[in-house]
Amino acid sequence: MKLLIDDARIATIERLCEVFPIAGVTTNPTILAKIGGNPFDVLKEIRELIGEEADLHVQAVSRRAEDIVAEANHIVKILGANTFVKIPALPEGFKAMKTLLETSEILVTATAVYTPMQAFIAGQCGAAYVAPYVNRIDNMGFDGVRVTKEIKEIFSANAMETEIIAASFKNAQQVLELCKCGVGAVTLAPELFYASVKNSAINSAVDDFIADFESFAGADKTMLDFQ
Ligand code: G3P
Repeated sequence: MKLLIDDARIATIERLCEVFPIAGVTTNPTILAKIGGNPFDVLKEIRELIGEEADLHVQAVSRRAEDIVAEANHIVKILGANTFVKIPALPEGFKAMKTLLETSEILVTATAVYTPMQAFIAGQCGAAYVAPYVNRIDNMGFDGVRVTKEIKEIFSANAMETEIIAASFKNAQQVLELCKCGVGAVTLAPELFYASVKNSAINSAVDDFIADFESFAGADKTMLDFQ
């Protein structure tokens, strides 16, 4: 299961990439609005930072299929290989996905997925990934993790190669539930990367080990001080 960052702030992405095993970055228009300016300025910077092998997901914003296809070609031309074009899983989006499948090798992530049927259709239209919005589904009174698991079952039952990139998480438990069943990828807001390891019991255990070591070796001593 790949781990991606759902953010576009360069310094934040850089810090996370130093610490965590990051496979790529996802963006959406709301995330880009927080940066402003020419969206390709920041997207090119992200591409340079994460490298050409990493996954970068960028959303097309046109409403008509023909325009979505043109946008998809434009995005990939500028940002290169391993750029996934996010296309909403709506009728015009499905039409665009089918066209892209027939006319190009552009990788598509079907986005704004709230129902298993959207995911099934997008997969049949050739989407490489579908992105169920786990927390937003929870907020509608349904179970986002369960919907995501159903999508996984549907893909498996129909021998479909489409993967799931689960998005919109608000807590580590939602992520953990999907780790257990192994979806293709999850994309997380920066704070969620730290949420699962930010725990006073963990810090206290590590502090105790260091104090025990220093009790016989001396203050600030480490294994480097011994042969
Ligand atoms: O792009 C989809 C995902 O980023 C949405 O997340 O937190 O806005 O529900 P959120």
